[in-house]
Amino acid sequence: MSYDPSDDGARMSFDGRMSYGDYLGLDRILTAQHPLSKAHDEMLFIIQHQTSELWMKLALHEMNAAREAIAAGNLQPAFKMLTRVARIMEQLNSAWDVLRTMTPSEYTEFRESLGESSGFQSYQYRMIEFVAGNRNMAMLRPHEHREELIAPLRTEATRPSLYDEVLARLRAAGFDVPERERLDQPHRPDPAARAAWAAVYRDPAQWWELYELAEKLVDFEDYFRRWRFNHVTTVERIIGFKRGSGGTSGVNYLRRMLDVVLFPDLWELRTEL
Ligand code: HEM
Repeated sequence: MSYDPSDDGARMSFDGRMSYGDYLGLDRILTAQHPLSKAHDEMLFIIQHQTSELWMKLALHEMNAAREAIAAGNLQPAFKMLTRVARIMEQLNSAWDVLRTMTPSEYTEFRESLGESSGFQSYQYRMIEFVAGNRNMAMLRPHEHREELIAPLRTEATRPSLYDEVLARLRAAGFDVPERERLDQPHRPDPAARAAWAAVYRDPAQWWELYELAEKLVDFEDYFRRWRFNHVTTVERIIGFKRGSGGTSGVNYLRRMLDVVLFPDLWELRTEL
């Protein structure tokens, strides 16, 4: 006789009760894949993007909570959340291994179906950049036709970023670091902040929490850079130097994005030590 898990107490009847699929909204998630071609690999392409967007959603959830915790001076819970964000980026980095199994021949089979859609238009990706502090307002234009998408991004650009809240911690510890005059711009290297960080890194024992906070941000950016590098390498492997579906120069545009620095003070201080 085959094993019946109900003998072990497993519930087998869910009429009128919340099941696994109900709780997780699986009906909606698992019916949201709509390949537009007959190409076998289009499903991989769709699911890879959708799962990346789900992980980005969680990253934003953690980053926003970490920012609040930092603003309230609760650094320990923020450390845990920022560690999770770095792990999410690591997870997204491993995901490229799946996409890399798709060859240029396979991608070409459904490339036309995408039209002009591209990850360039990922509003969650822009939100991650905006929350961290890399705010380039030009990147909002693809969302102008969707008020419900652009409004939160515009509002975000008026709020202190994660890094602004980190700088506020430096001020609270007595360092003389000026507030940014314009929040709707990327963080530029700031000599006063760099000097403060250099003092922290020269004496970690005295400034342990700030030191740990800085390292959490560097970890996050380190994994983020790896994501960008994996992306551009995968893209070159699949489309070479063709233009992107979003209209940019493709690999050349993505290479330029490799130079983006989220927290310049934290990288520059290293040269000073
Ligand atoms: C076959 C796979 C892929 C190709 C060929 C590809 C290609 C490109 C290209 C050429 C760009 C530059 C913008 C453009 O002109 O389109 C771009 C941007 C982007 N892609 Fe991909 N991509 C792929 C997979 C992915 C995946 C799985 C994600 C995950 C969400 C992703 C997210 C992004 C993001 C966020 C950007 C904007 C980057 C920035 O502006 O800094 N891409 N992609």
